[in-house]
Amino acid sequence: MNFADSEIVNSILIEDGMTVAANPESADVILVNTCSIRENAETKVWNRLKELRSIKKSNSELTVGVLGCMAERIKDRIIEEEHLVDIVVGPDAYRDIPRLLAEVDDGRKAVNVLLSLEETYADIAPVRTTGNGVSSFVSIMRGCDNMCSFCVVPFTRGRERSRPMESILKEIQQLSDEGYKEVTLLGQNVNSYKDGENTFTRLMDAASLINPEIRFRFSSPHPKDFPDDLLHLIAERPNLCNYIHIPAQAGSDSMLERMRRPYTREQYLTLTEKMKSIIPGLSLSTDIIAGFCGETEEEHQGTMTLMAEVGYDLAYMFAYSERERTLAYRKFEDDVPEEVKKRRLSEIITQQMNIQKERNLEEIGQRHLVLVEGTSKKSEEQVSGRTDTNKIAVFDRRDFEKGDYVEVEVTDCTSATLIAKPIRKTTITEFYEVAVEA
Ligand code: 5AD
Ligand code: SF4
Repeated sequence: MNFADSEIVNSILIEDGMTVAANPESADVILVNTCSIRENAETKVWNRLKELRSIKKSNSELTVGVLGCMAERIKDRIIEEEHLVDIVVGPDAYRDIPRLLAEVDDGRKAVNVLLSLEETYADIAPVRTTGNGVSSFVSIMRGCDNMCSFCVVPFTRGRERSRPMESILKEIQQLSDEGYKEVTLLGQNVNSYKDGENTFTRLMDAASLINPEIRFRFSSPHPKDFPDDLLHLIAERPNLCNYIHIPAQAGSDSMLERMRRPYTREQYLTLTEKMKSIIPGLSLSTDIIAGFCGETEEEHQGTMTLMAEVGYDLAYMFAYSERERTLAYRKFEDDVPEEVKKRRLSEIITQQMNIQKERNLEEIGQRHLVLVEGTSKKSEEQVSGRTDTNKIAVFDRRDFEKGDYVEVEVTDCTSATLIAKPIRKTTITEFYEVAVEA
């Protein structure tokens, strides 16, 4: 989400006549886009700001700004105590950055942290300076109304609002014209996307028809209301990836209730079973929190058994980090001792690594369609990319280039990577041997 936001800010600044500096030392303005989701995300930002202090010392003209989720929460502290930051801009105020920079030029500090009910930056074409030129994010909505008790997002990013479908499709068409091959549609809760009669399924339908050689992913849906028609659409459309990220957070009913996640373990398991039965070869990933308020050993085991039962191909696993303003902060106690949180998280991670290894071993001998993203981290002789099911695969470079679709056969694996041999360069349409009606 922050990558996508930074690309919107790029566009606003370039429109205002600015250019991207070669390095921080030669910049007139440095903006740090921030995340508040967990304590260590904020710690990273503070460290980055401290690093920037030395550049600021040698360049008194330098303007440093903080953008995004941390803006509201610490605006007073940033400006008055730390002398690190000149401007503070919340996630809905990016259009105001040029005016705020002008205010700073007049010697003042400048702040705009107002949240909006409407802002979706729909008309702003993001300028993509950081991506790989192959895969891209497209933001389809902003904010969140779910109020999970542990989560600060509804407070930092405001109310949920959907971007008009037309402007999303226009952006995807442009990405297609520029040669992009993979688009991930982004929102805090994509299945509540709504633009008049247009639902998230309709949006995916229309998006996937723009170019049958662009593959589509999305992040994140909520288990409480995942639509059946989307599962059928994914099953029949070759360029909708057989991969769903479906955050569980926890595996016991009592914990889900304290987290204000409105589904039961049983309902979640029924949903993932349905997903697997409708979409053959589906891979699933999830988000899990260890050590949330009041977590008992039994509840922790509930999370472990849920994860084992679903058999995720990938999981993002976190220790609970208390966030001011949330319901959990106001009502519950962050009472699981740090070492217990750590131990439980490490049990969860160890189990997940074993599951991933087992699932990847089952892939040996199977064929996949991989979109080449670039050179492998380990060897210049190899390229790396992702399968339709979102697994990283590495194989011999031959004459493959970034953006090629390659059919590969898996020969070996680790818990995180498939090692493969390339069979041939191909296309989505050819690989799945289906005529796609455009
Ligand atoms: N502590 C730990 N993890 C959190 N997440 C959200 N809030 C917290 C928190 N306070 C995790 C959830 C969410 C993911 C984006 O971050 O698992 O799905
Ligand atoms: Fe946070 Fe829950 Fe909204 Fe996700 S759905 S952003 S976890 S409040």
